[in-house]
Amino acid sequence: MGNLKLFFGVLAAVVMTIQGQFTIGLGRFDITGPSVEVPFMGYASMDQRGHGIHTRQFARTFIVQDAAGRRVVYVATDLAMISHAMRRDVLAQLQARFGNMYRYDNVMLSAQHTHGGPGGYHQYIMYDVTCLGFIRETYNPIVNGIVQSITIAHNSMFSGRVFLTETTVNDFGVNRSPKAYLLNPQVERNRFSGDIDRTMTQLRFVDNQGQVRGAFSWLAVHPVSMNNTNLFVSSDNLGLASILLEQERNANQLIGRGSFIGAFSTANSGDISPNINGPRCIGTGLYCDPIESSCPNQGDVCIAFGPGTTHIDSTRIIGTRIYNAASLLVRNGGGRELTGTVGFQNQFVEMSTQTGQWLNEATGRVESFRGCLSAFGMSFAAGTTDGPGGFDFTQGSTSGNPFWDAVRDFVAEPTPDDIACHAPKPILLNTGRTSRPFLWIPPIVPTQIITIGDAVIAGLPGEITTMGGRRLRTQLQAVGQAVGRNPHVIVTGMVNMYSSYIVTFEEYQMQRYEAASTAFGPHTLTIYIQQYSRLYQAILNNQVLTPGPLPLDQTADQLTFLLPVINDDSGSANFGAVVVQPRASYTRGQEVFARFVSGNPRNALMTESSYFFVERLELNGSWLPIASDANWETRFIWRRTSTIRGTSEIDFFWDIPNNVANGQYRIRHEGASRGPVTGVRSYTGITMMFAIG
Ligand SMILES: *[C@@H]1O[C@H](CO)[C@@H](O)[C@H](O)[C@H]1NC(C)=O
Ligand SMILES: *[C@@H]1O[C@H](CO)[C@@H](O)[C@H](O)[C@H]1NC(C)=O
Repeated sequence: MGNLKLFFGVLAAVVMTIQGQFTIGLGRFDITGPSVEVPFMGYASMDQRGHGIHTRQFARTFIVQDAAGRRVVYVATDLAMISHAMRRDVLAQLQARFGNMYRYDNVMLSAQHTHGGPGGYHQYIMYDVTCLGFIRETYNPIVNGIVQSITIAHNSMFSGRVFLTETTVNDFGVNRSPKAYLLNPQVERNRFSGDIDRTMTQLRFVDNQGQVRGAFSWLAVHPVSMNNTNLFVSSDNLGLASILLEQERNANQLIGRGSFIGAFSTANSGDISPNINGPRCIGTGLYCDPIESSCPNQGDVCIAFGPGTTHIDSTRIIGTRIYNAASLLVRNGGGRELTGTVGFQNQFVEMSTQTGQWLNEATGRVESFRGCLSAFGMSFAAGTTDGPGGFDFTQGSTSGNPFWDAVRDFVAEPTPDDIACHAPKPILLNTGRTSRPFLWIPPIVPTQIITIGDAVIAGLPGEITTMGGRRLRTQLQAVGQAVGRNPHVIVTGMVNMYSSYIVTFEEYQMQRYEAASTAFGPHTLTIYIQQYSRLYQAILNNQVLTPGPLPLDQTADQLTFLLPVINDDSGSANFGAVVVQPRASYTRGQEVFARFVSGNPRNALMTESSYFFVERLELNGSWLPIASDANWETRFIWRRTSTIRGTSEIDFFWDIPNNVANGQYRIRHEGASRGPVTGVRSYTGITMMFAIG
């Protein structure tokens, strides 16, 4: 008996030591900004202004703390990009709450890169010019939401384990600059299969009871399944994958509720398109020129489509494929358990002052390199086959864009040295030599690596191409292997700041869109490979690098051309009055439609709530919300019916999914109106009930 007790005691001790390698925190918070009137960030099209919500945007966080009490924080957001201002202000708020626990070196913010969300959060001219400047209405909910998601993770730490798994995903993307990829040396290309990375990497967070509490996945996909005609706030294909994974694991909860966190980030997706049917000339259906992306017939444009019949359908198909792969990884379990310590290193670098030596694989020679002051090439203005010609840089009398008209005259002429440094890029916008009215492109960028055991997350401040990511991964693996480690490197773009594209030296020679948008010259990638090697070496050697020069705070210089909401008028009805009622009954698969008298959605963002709820009548007589405006199956469109009077209407749609129960349903609309005297007032509108079944 005593022996048996001893045996179980020892067993318990062994189990205890196997479990709880790390202390883990997970959190999620709504970051959806103004869904109407603000131009979207991504396609650089000022006409692409929201008119409603298809899916909401969220920030999802993991915190991992090792036995020594050191922490790393990773935040995956449904945003196009992260800005330095965002990260700085998030850290300032965290420091006010938690002291020096969260800093530049151990907090990494990433964006999955949807092109379907309101913009105006960069504070650099190039990235805010098509968004009517700096938009506080977009910025504040993002900063607050990221802080909230980290705070929720901080307040719910549990002892658990982290596993790394991988799987291959098929038919989610194609290389959109395949000819540029082919310029990479043959010997290098031979080491990889194809011109796109199909591997999804997942970190799975498991508590001591064996329950999976969260999963963060990385895949080299561009979330541009929704094209530049989309006017719905949308988290695109990666956002849908999150929604589906969280719906699977948080049964019977509204989107954005429930304890399981399922997040997705983009990887080395700079040259990847999810529009897998490929580009066609839309006028004639002919193939486009593979280098110029031009069409034989003048005036025809080259645009990529598929795999669905509409872009919403394509988003559903690609998002579902990504979700299926991630869901399988969660259900299969297993994988490589991460053990040991966490590591982190952040350093700000001024790109134009970076120099070094590199082995040019094409010539076999060691050559010296330098960075350039930022500049954009001619092809930048042309855009990509996922969103052609969005940027209006014609030098006509007026562009129709008040921001561009205000700053256009400050573009500087390139010097002979600029031209030599960027060659063969023909310089269109010499952004690096102008700081008027304030900086156009960040000259100083953050570089950062966080590690959990041997998982190495290298977060880059830009969009890195397939081969660019492979080159960086190969180099960091070699750095780790040189000291006997077996690192698994995850390269992810769109982290901590945005500075456009990162292509290889060879891809740069073709000057397609991605190369024209590689801002710091032909050796932008070479600089990052040298820099990220330094960061990883410092982590492995337990050194702390100097923080580097902090980017300028340009908050006081910002221009804003978005008009405020002045007045809402409900006409002869009340706010929330139902103009068009749903039909009396529906069957599954049909679409419910209702129209309400409304205020401007900018008056209240309904953060962590919703403008609409689909509600079901329960047996006890109460109404249970079963869907919100964050569901894939719901969407709404707002429009001003009279700009002069300030009246507006809002249309709500619900595609009834196949799994809803028979019963009585209704639609509840929550909104807010603004009056010059009364200020903002909330209102509710409720439809008549309708039957499903
Ligand atoms: C965008 O998608 C819509 C819906 O699928 C389609 O009608 C339109 O032609 C597409 N436009 C562009 C510019 O890609
Ligand atoms: C009514 O039933 C629902 C579940 O169907 C439950 O969520 C709700 O709390 C109940 N309300 C009351 C007042 O009992």
